[in-house]
Amino acid sequence: MKILGIETSCDETAAAVVEDGSKILSNVVVSQIDIFAEYGGVIPEVAARSHLEAMMPVVNKALKNAFCSWDEIDAIAVTHAPGLLGSLLIGTLTARTMAILHEKPLYATHHLKSHVYANWLNVDESEELVSERALEAARPSFTLSKTNSSDSPQFPLLAMVISGGHTQILYMRGHDQFEIIGTTHDDAVGECFDKVAKILGLTYPGGPSIAKEALRGNENKYKLPHPHVDGLDFSFSGLKTAVLRAVQKELGLPISHPSHDLKNHLTDEMRADFAASFQKTAIDILNEKIKLAIQEHPEIKSIVFAGGVSANQKLREEAERIFSKDYAVFFPEPKYSGDNGAMVAAAAFYEIQAGVKPTDPYKLNIYPRISIES
Ligand code: KG4
Ligand code: ZN
Repeated sequence: MKILGIETSCDETAAAVVEDGSKILSNVVVSQIDIFAEYGGVIPEVAARSHLEAMMPVVNKALKNAFCSWDEIDAIAVTHAPGLLGSLLIGTLTARTMAILHEKPLYATHHLKSHVYANWLNVDESEELVSERALEAARPSFTLSKTNSSDSPQFPLLAMVISGGHTQILYMRGHDQFEIIGTTHDDAVGECFDKVAKILGLTYPGGPSIAKEALRGNENKYKLPHPHVDGLDFSFSGLKTAVLRAVQKELGLPISHPSHDLKNHLTDEMRADFAASFQKTAIDILNEKIKLAIQEHPEIKSIVFAGGVSANQKLREEAERIFSKDYAVFFPEPKYSGDNGAMVAAAAFYEIQAGVKPTDPYKLNIYPRISIES
């Protein structure tokens, strides 16, 4: 079954064709990062306009790269929740129109489900990606993929969804069965990377910038506190403030000193040490919560990571080191950690397997803030 997956929930315009939930026939992502790097964050109206311009060329390229005509597409899947309102509208209106025009069944997927299902994508099977990987291999790369790339995650499992908008631990008994067992009380961990990067004067998005800067820093230089949050929940706004205070203290500046000016006073060494110390603390917090979740659910067979922050190499190494002796640990290939259309198609495939029926293309709505459990 070939599904065209469309994703526009934030600042990536993406479409992909995936066969049977795992074989990637094409994957096209147009990122707006360059636009938003200038502003230090996403501007929703600008994102929606950019999606509008990129959407149809991206869909057409995804079909062309997959050597597929519309006749060969069995279904269309699109992200309808959660995300930026204007961005979700462009993707869903496109998918609805295409579904009506080409008489295809339409499936609406939740963005976090799609992130989780990136772990079922079999990147090795993709021709296009095989050649890209050959290029990657030529560079000094740290790519570390699934514990065993030929296997799929086994249920029951814990899924750690860590993105720019969400930080949740999900318990999955089977396909398309999601229970939230931990969530953030305030900022998402990706948001925290982005805000700390801004304080340190690193470019948006903050995650990759901090990861790169941290490579030459001392992660034990600054001791940052772990927030006291009971159970499996998280809080990341306190960690961002802790970095802010630590930077002010290191520079001998008062807490009233404007945060946007601190970057002008940091030495290169301080910046790298703060990036490394912050990254280590954020990763430790995530892994500590997984340890707690395992205590509550010792029956799990796999641990899967998902969402933009799961591209973090240090997190991959640490999680593998801590958990892979006892559990199968899965990460999406780094380029599928962030937003893409392939994961949307994969999620829809497993929803269909679980008995989900197509949605009415004349009525499909968007839900910018809805939970994965609804
Ligand atoms: O999943 P995603 O692409 O979009 C959302 O659904 O939010 O996640 C984006 C987030 C951003 O906050 C970005 O800074 C973070 O993922 N991110 C990373 C890395 N790459 C992206 N965080 C830490 N380390 C990375 N290597
Ligand atoms: Zn995402």
